[in-house]
Amino acid sequence: MRLSHYFLPVLKETPAEAQIVSHRLMLRAGLIRQEAAGIYAWLPLGIRVLNKIKAIVHEEMNRAGAIEILMPTLQSAELWRESGRYDDYGKEMLRIKDRHDRDLLYGPTNEEMVTEIFRAYVRSYKQLPLNLYHTQWKFRDEVRPRFGVMRGREFLMKDAYSFDIDARAARRAYNRMYVAYLRTFARMGLKSIPMRAEAGPIGGDLSHEFIVLAETGESQVYCHKDLLDMPIPNEDTDFHGDLESIVRARTELYAATEDVHDSARFEKEVPPEKRLSARGIEVGQVFYFGTKYSAPMKAVVTGPDGKEVPVEMGSYGIGVSRLVGAIIEACHDDAGIIWPVSVAPFRVALINLKSGDVATDKACESLYSRLTTAGIETLYDDTDERPGAKFATADLIGIPYQLVVGPRGLSAGNVEIKVRATGAKHEMPADAAVEYLVQGN
Ligand SMILES: Nc1ncnc2c1ncn2[C@@H]1O[C@H](COP(=O)(O)OP(=O)(O)OP(=O)(O)O)[C@@H](O)[C@H]1O
Ligand SMILES: [Mg+2]
Repeated sequence: MRLSHYFLPVLKETPAEAQIVSHRLMLRAGLIRQEAAGIYAWLPLGIRVLNKIKAIVHEEMNRAGAIEILMPTLQSAELWRESGRYDDYGKEMLRIKDRHDRDLLYGPTNEEMVTEIFRAYVRSYKQLPLNLYHTQWKFRDEVRPRFGVMRGREFLMKDAYSFDIDARAARRAYNRMYVAYLRTFARMGLKSIPMRAEAGPIGGDLSHEFIVLAETGESQVYCHKDLLDMPIPNEDTDFHGDLESIVRARTELYAATEDVHDSARFEKEVPPEKRLSARGIEVGQVFYFGTKYSAPMKAVVTGPDGKEVPVEMGSYGIGVSRLVGAIIEACHDDAGIIWPVSVAPFRVALINLKSGDVATDKACESLYSRLTTAGIETLYDDTDERPGAKFATADLIGIPYQLVVGPRGLSAGNVEIKVRATGAKHEMPADAAVEYLVQGN
């Protein structure tokens, strides 16, 4: 992408309304624009990051055996009356009337709808286990939307729903999502810790929140420090196999959110030097709630004995849009964002230090075409800005590699690569630079 043809509305000033660093940087780097309280438009750089995050989430969902669908944002109130949640949900739910005076709502979550889909088609235990997921915009009319996309009113969530014949199988389904979540957040450069949590309006009795530690987090959490350094299950993990040992290694150690925290137990189970009490961001949550929806909504399947039973369910959410903010909270410095390569909007920022200079332009054009041909997403700063401004923009928007090309370097046969995360600079000939950038890292 040529910057001269792109839309990258970066701000010079720090927006006064933003209280936390990720919100400030998202506005300054031109990722989002607020359209109403807690409602944002995603600008070109922002949507690229959002799509990268979503792609990782989907890869890990698919790996764990979940199947993608897409449910609508608008739902009929009838469904929610069946489960009894239409009245329970309260003011967070945005209620809408259509022209025929029928009650609709903008979905805050999809347990009812997915249960309706399930019961329309699935009759037998032989069709189980089943896990259906989608990534769709949700609306919750939060009392206090704040911190940008961290607590929006309209936000993007991946939500998966598992269906099993009995509690044992449902537990295995829960474990698959638990392990998939560990991998998902690690791939985005985040250290997430699963913590015991309250089930809230989703209901049920087994639940974990996946927490990323950050001072600006809205949750108070308590855990054993060893949880910070547990190995991440690798790509070859057998999701058909027994994942209980991976889950148990973590659930054995104390970890709880404030709502379910038991200070006596914490002090008894965790030696003083291992106690961690900190703030955290909830990036995902998994729930096992059994027949809470299937029983009232009559989603039943026939078991091996020929008897009908309500299907055992769980649900599994990830805050896809919140993750953009969470990643920035974890990855930034005074100059701006430092994207992990896996979610970066572009891998390389190609910086022309002297646009208009024939030799420099020619070298840049050649590098740009070689990198893009090799599939490296490159943002080519071909504008007339002075070098200082180009460097500041590249630092602010956090592209992992800056490839800097100027007349002085070229006369010595070199270009420069700056690694955004470390600040390390390497001079090398253009060929070597292309190889360096193409060869992974
Ligand atoms: N208002 C919001 N803005 C952005 N992301 C959100 C919001 N509410 C929830 N999420 C994300 O969606 C995920 C799944 O939703 P869930 O129903 O568990 O949310 P929640 O527990 O109500 O969230 P919170 O406690 O932060 O209000 C959460 O883990 C979080 O990452
Ligand atoms: Mg939650």
